[in-house]
Amino acid sequence: CGIVAYIGHQKASDVIIKGLKRLEYRGYDSAGIALMDGGLNVYKKKGKVSELEDFIKGEDLKSTVGMGHTRWATHGEPNDVNAHPHFSQSGNLAIIHNGIIENYAALKKDLEGKGYTFKSETDSEVFINFIEDIYNNNDGTLEEAVRLALTKVVGAYAIVILSKEKPNQLIAARKGSPMVIGVGRNEFFIASDATPIVEYTNEVVYVNDYEIAVIKDSELTIRDTKDVKMTPYIQKVDMELEAIEKGGFEHFMLKEIFEQPKSIKDCFRGRLIANNGQLVLGGIREYANALTNAERIVIVACGTSWHAGLVAEYIFEEFCRIPVEVEYASEFRYRNPIIREGDIVIAISQSGETADTLAAMELAKSKGAIVLGVCNVVGSSISRVSHEGVYTHAGPEIGVASTKAFTAQLTVLTMIALRVAHRKGTMAEQRYRSFLAELESIPAKVEKALKTDDQVKKIAALFKDSRNCLYLGRGYNFPVALEGALKLKEISYIHAEGYPAAEMKHGPIALIDEEMPVVVIATRDSSYDKIVSNIQEVKARKGKVIAIVSEGDSLIPGMVDHTIEVPGTHDALMPMVATIPLQLLSYHIAVMRNCNVDQPRNLAKSVTVE
Ligand code: G6P
Repeated sequence: CGIVAYIGHQKASDVIIKGLKRLEYRGYDSAGIALMDGGLNVYKKKGKVSELEDFIKGEDLKSTVGMGHTRWATHGEPNDVNAHPHFSQSGNLAIIHNGIIENYAALKKDLEGKGYTFKSETDSEVFINFIEDIYNNNDGTLEEAVRLALTKVVGAYAIVILSKEKPNQLIAARKGSPMVIGVGRNEFFIASDATPIVEYTNEVVYVNDYEIAVIKDSELTIRDTKDVKMTPYIQKVDMELEAIEKGGFEHFMLKEIFEQPKSIKDCFRGRLIANNGQLVLGGIREYANALTNAERIVIVACGTSWHAGLVAEYIFEEFCRIPVEVEYASEFRYRNPIIREGDIVIAISQSGETADTLAAMELAKSKGAIVLGVCNVVGSSISRVSHEGVYTHAGPEIGVASTKAFTAQLTVLTMIALRVAHRKGTMAEQRYRSFLAELESIPAKVEKALKTDDQVKKIAALFKDSRNCLYLGRGYNFPVALEGALKLKEISYIHAEGYPAAEMKHGPIALIDEEMPVVVIATRDSSYDKIVSNIQEVKARKGKVIAIVSEGDSLIPGMVDHTIEVPGTHDALMPMVATIPLQLLSYHIAVMRNCNVDQPRNLAKSVTVE
């Protein structure tokens, strides 16, 4: 979910609606807004923020204080009633909430016993009534009631509360769900991340877990849930407005795909200078030796970031000879994993807010592991929970399907592995140098791979009505196959599976017929001959093969239905190049199927609930 709130001198509804649109990638099942307009008025609607915008058009909304929410449903289906903000029973208080209150059922039962009734099925409505109940039964301020309530709720939240009695006050708090406060001139902005804020101010305060912020009379005060006053730490955010706009592209996803030569370069900036052998990772200093000498590395991540982790496993094992395990964060955290003191755990996350990844890190930390983060969003929870880490610096990624963040993750992970291999001596100087040079040439190769766009679009037109699709790869290209399949699934709703090419004969081969497109990543690498045999196995069963091959391949084009050429590079770096046409393929197929590419159904970009 995304939350935005405003207090200042501008028209709050304009700031909030604009902000909600910027946050819409976090969820778009329903949207709502509450404004202090004489009273406390709430407007909410199922569907996109634009539907809410239409709904309030024509209303005379002059308020300069308000809050808004765009929802990704957890408790209760997406409809007008379950949309936020939620009123308390008396109508004096309203809340927006991102997160899940785990003990809501018990709280609800207690409140029902006291005569409270509920309009929605949400945990958030229970939350606000719980606060109201404490407020009504104590002498203290609303802030104090919020504080007491927070000591009793279990779960994750980022909340903002408005009260009829105090029209010039916002109360906000967080635990486990992200929250940033923008500090302007006599105005304040609260949001789930900095994207709705940067056009007004670049000064922000990241709210920490267990903190409650109160903004009134142009002043921000922060206390923790133990009632200790904290000093707000104002930081500068470095985000350009153009980075969060479409810049002439039809969709954010397409813009982000085409940004990759630049985002990979941004990731090198100040770190890699190949011709003098320089590779500096300022984010890993204190734990550099521990990493170099690690006996084992565990990688935790979700979704696309998990795929980047799989590539990293191959790279670390090959370059550094360190055993690596890659785990889905959601599995790792609940299966009593073996973590020893000093183990290295690397958490990979674009958003830096994924609840399962965050929890996996915390578990690892509690068992004495050294936790390193590979994150895109500066200041995000994961970046703050990790001991040290390396930012991917890909810039804001708005399209729900991850593209440039993936290639930037691969870039960072490759740099980390090269650094370790060099320090450890598992990679000879000459080979190390040649890798640095090859890595530096990747943006130009990605640029060339992007030139396949027109050709990929034609292929997309031929396969857009497929119901299934198989993606095959071996070695470093196996995770690329998984990622290609995920991209297609996410945005076009075509069922797709990624498989190690050799495993195909143990099951998926049964699916192959004349109808079935099979995308094979068959660039020239150490398993080339083997994958050529796999292609023949598919062709023998009349499957339609689309092959991603290295430039100049003269063998595969004669065997398959369509070939897409990408520039050659080292096996370990190929995922960054080979993934490009797969991103384009899913993009074009989704557009041709009239799917909402940037906001695919049921998904959210940043999953802050487990
Ligand atoms: C969501 C997104 C995916 C992303 C995954 C992990 O499911 O839709 O694109 O890969 O979360 O997110 P993270 O921000 O931790 O990389």
